Amino acid sequence: MTLIFGGDYNPEQWPEATWLEDVALMAEAGVTMVTVGVFSWSRLEPKPGEFDFGWLDRVLDLLHAKGIEVDLATASATPPPWLVRDHPSVLPVDANGTRLEFGSRQSYCPSSPVFRSAVQRLVRTIAERYKDHPALKMWHISNEYGDHIVSCWCDESAKHFRDWLQSRYRDIAGLNQAWGTSCWGQHYTGFEQVNPPRKAPGPVNPAQLLDWKRFSSDALLECFELEKQVLREVTPAIPVTTNFMSIMSELDYWKWAQAEDLVTDDAYPDPADPKSHLKIALSYDLMRSLKQQSWLLLESAPSAVSWREVNVPKRPGKMRLDSLQAVAHGSDGVMFFQWRQAKYGPEKFHSAMLPHAGTQTRQWRETVHLGQELRKLAEVKGHHTSAEVAILLDWSSWWALEAQESMPSNRLKLKDMLHTWYEPLFRRGIAVDLAPHGRSLESYQLVIAPSLYMCTIEQAKALQDFKGTLIVGPFSGVVDDNDQIHDGGAPGPLTELLGVTVEEFWPLPDGQRTKVGTANAHTWTEVLRLTTARPLASYEDGRPAITRNGNAIYVSCLLDDVTPVLREAGITAPEQELEICRRGPYTFVLNHTNASQPVPFRGTDMLTGREVTEVPPLDVIVIKEGQQ
Ligand code: GLA
Repeated sequence: MTLIFGGDYNPEQWPEATWLEDVALMAEAGVTMVTVGVFSWSRLEPKPGEFDFGWLDRVLDLLHAKGIEVDLATASATPPPWLVRDHPSVLPVDANGTRLEFGSRQSYCPSSPVFRSAVQRLVRTIAERYKDHPALKMWHISNEYGDHIVSCWCDESAKHFRDWLQSRYRDIAGLNQAWGTSCWGQHYTGFEQVNPPRKAPGPVNPAQLLDWKRFSSDALLECFELEKQVLREVTPAIPVTTNFMSIMSELDYWKWAQAEDLVTDDAYPDPADPKSHLKIALSYDLMRSLKQQSWLLLESAPSAVSWREVNVPKRPGKMRLDSLQAVAHGSDGVMFFQWRQAKYGPEKFHSAMLPHAGTQTRQWRETVHLGQELRKLAEVKGHHTSAEVAILLDWSSWWALEAQESMPSNRLKLKDMLHTWYEPLFRRGIAVDLAPHGRSLESYQLVIAPSLYMCTIEQAKALQDFKGTLIVGPFSGVVDDNDQIHDGGAPGPLTELLGVTVEEFWPLPDGQRTKVGTANAHTWTEVLRLTTARPLASYEDGRPAITRNGNAIYVSCLLDDVTPVLREAGITAPEQELEICRRGPYTFVLNHTNASQPVPFRGTDMLTGREVTEVPPLDVIVIKEGQQ
């Protein structure tokens, strides 16, 4: 049993002599697994149907000889030049109708039948070649779906979108009803008249935008499934994954996670952001929640990235702290982008486990040290965190809230709302799950729904059945799953549960604040009429702002501080300077501050074997139950 340690390895960018040094240094650093071949299609299949596996055979053999396992990419993330030149329709088209050129990566239309069948042939050939290779541990399908290309607006995608709509609505009358096409004269008489939401003179039909988001997530998922199907046939025992990009709106990760064997994530907290550890922790908790299982940090930056405006490196100790934070939140290992720092290309300034300056460097020493420490934590593998608090997250609602422009306020951003609730829980060391909307919530004591703009009658039922304390944020229960306003207005199917009716939405101009108890409301307020709820806190003019109806608390505004509401919901623990995170019998204590912090309990650190009373800045200790 061991935690996974390694990174992306791109041997095709280096001469073979370097590979020997690579594997020797990997062994020295304790690397257990590398991801190979992510962007290597043009090297594996230099001409249509002509494959060159010699180099990859040698790489895999070298790795295996050192006991290093391989997360083998299916190499489909960048189609080769011959494919896009022979079939320009493979290249994606943007919403203005411009076809995007070759010369970067991920330049494909997810709906292109030519692309899809070329991928299937490639994947089958790779799988047949390596199915019995002893280094093969996991399949890495494509790369970061949704990065660069989330949607393609070409004619092929239009056809695919129409098919998707037809299976959703059966007939055009169903689509007209769902999209409310009586508005602005959009009544369709056949599916062939429907297009993707390309650039139009004014705001596009919001229901069309919503379905486009759903379709785009599904179209990419189909690409994943096509590859998975081939891999299952050829190597049924090898797990498949694709690397997620931390919490993001583009892909419905609940649906995606069900399709893969292991959730893996690429996480790039910004070292320049003092709150980055807090923001990334939410993503880690999402990854853990997606399958309620351990997951794997498949990519992270050893130090600076190369894609921000200013790419700040990680201070000494920061890589270790960031890495162990992921383990604390359920990752069964730590992997990086990438093993060896590139010599050329757009990522030549991106940090790596082995930097340009070689092994006489702080970076390398920290890499080796981390490998050693992960070995000491091997027994943590597979342990799970169970949370009593859940935050609801629903992608359709997120899309409906943010994809359209014609809202009372375009300032409501779901990620901000999630963080508002997550941050005070994090600061109190309270474990949080993310949970999908509409499923049973019975294992939780407290459920928080920062925003349920979209809420169907069935989804409301799951909330009604919930026996613990429920907090619902503003602008909830507004529309059904076609983005149509519920009869009687908000909070629609939540009206009885919350005991309030929203008479008016009252967004605030930028910068304006109004007092609600000890906190301030900003961005959004509502005019409520209470039916069975009682007020808990009011706006400055005395109107109710926060209400309670039985176990359900409604917060009709965005607050700069939600701790009073959490207190009302039974969260009374004090804030702490240290991050204290439990994973099974292990307690991770992480110091993200610049000062030493006392540990609130005694214990022996698994990493140093020492009795600890304080944690120095940017340090981490891990204490096993029974050793406190
Ligand atoms: C993503 C990609 C990698 C690399 C890194 C750089 O995670 O998957 O190929 O580009 O970003 O940070």
